[in-house]
Amino acid sequence: MTGRLAIVTGASGGLGPAIARRIAEDFDTVLITDVREERLETLAAEIEGTAGARVLAMRCDVSDPAEVAAVYEAAAREGSIASLVNAAGIGIYTPLTEITPEHWDRMFAINTRGTFLMSQEFVRRAEPPAAIVNISSVGARAGNDMLAHYGASKAAVIEFSHSVARACARSGIRSNTVMPGIIFTDMWRGTIAYLQKQDPEMAKLPVETVFAGIVDQAIPMGRAQEPEDIAEAVAFFLSDRAKNITGQTLAVDGGIVLT
Ligand SMILES: NC(=O)c1ccc[n+]([C@@H]2O[C@H](COP(=O)([O-])OP(=O)(O)OC[C@H]3O[C@@H](n4cnc5c(N)ncnc54)[C@H](O)[C@@H]3O)[C@@H](O)[C@H]2O)c1
Repeated sequence: MTGRLAIVTGASGGLGPAIARRIAEDFDTVLITDVREERLETLAAEIEGTAGARVLAMRCDVSDPAEVAAVYEAAAREGSIASLVNAAGIGIYTPLTEITPEHWDRMFAINTRGTFLMSQEFVRRAEPPAAIVNISSVGARAGNDMLAHYGASKAAVIEFSHSVARACARSGIRSNTVMPGIIFTDMWRGTIAYLQKQDPEMAKLPVETVFAGIVDQAIPMGRAQEPEDIAEAVAFFLSDRAKNITGQTLAVDGGIVLT
């Protein structure tokens, strides 16, 4: 097979589908992956029906080296490996004193080790010019009393991306990071469910109202981000328009983190 191929992890989530949909405009083939397989085939068909690209679906647990290797075996058969978007991740509100070593390890296994495994194999196999975009979080730069393990795992992603950028600067592979702000996905639905369990008054409110309150309090611009906002930043970093940009981190967050 020929043609430029992009891999997206975490494609069954809230941001993954928007990212896959957007970059399907720019690549010949997009390989969408997730540990949750149920949605992938339908999503692939839906994107393929509207974008020009071929869209393939495959299970991948990013924390498992064997599954990561299998994805790259498949990708190499389907096209010239040109881009990787590390969007798979978990984020679970937990008070600092209740984070167990198991919570910590699981957070790092998916958010950090997953990014490492996917990126390392990408660097071995990519055909330059090639690019990686990592999805970190404003949690990497703004401490949060409920997300100490999440923030640390996402900060590690940023520094890892710096090292990939340096290591690959002369070989035509770029690595950049997007820090999303607050987007209403399953991750936030899970967080709000947790908050409502702790607070009976909050539990009486519709989820959307609680989310609007969080947004109003946390985001200087006063509005949530949409998955498409993140997808647009990803598409930019992967494109030739960013050919001289590597090792950078872009917040798409309505002003939460000022750099
Ligand atoms: N939603 C937000 O407000 C927000 C803000 C900042 C950063 N982020 C980051 O954006 C990314 C996407 O988040 P989202 O909001 O779409 O969350 P989401 O929970 O909707 O989607 C995450 C996806 O990752 C997948 N996943 C989990 N563990 C995996 C594993 N081991 N291997 C492969 N896939 C796995 C899940 O199945 C899910 O489909 C995450 O990295 C998250 O940390 C989200």
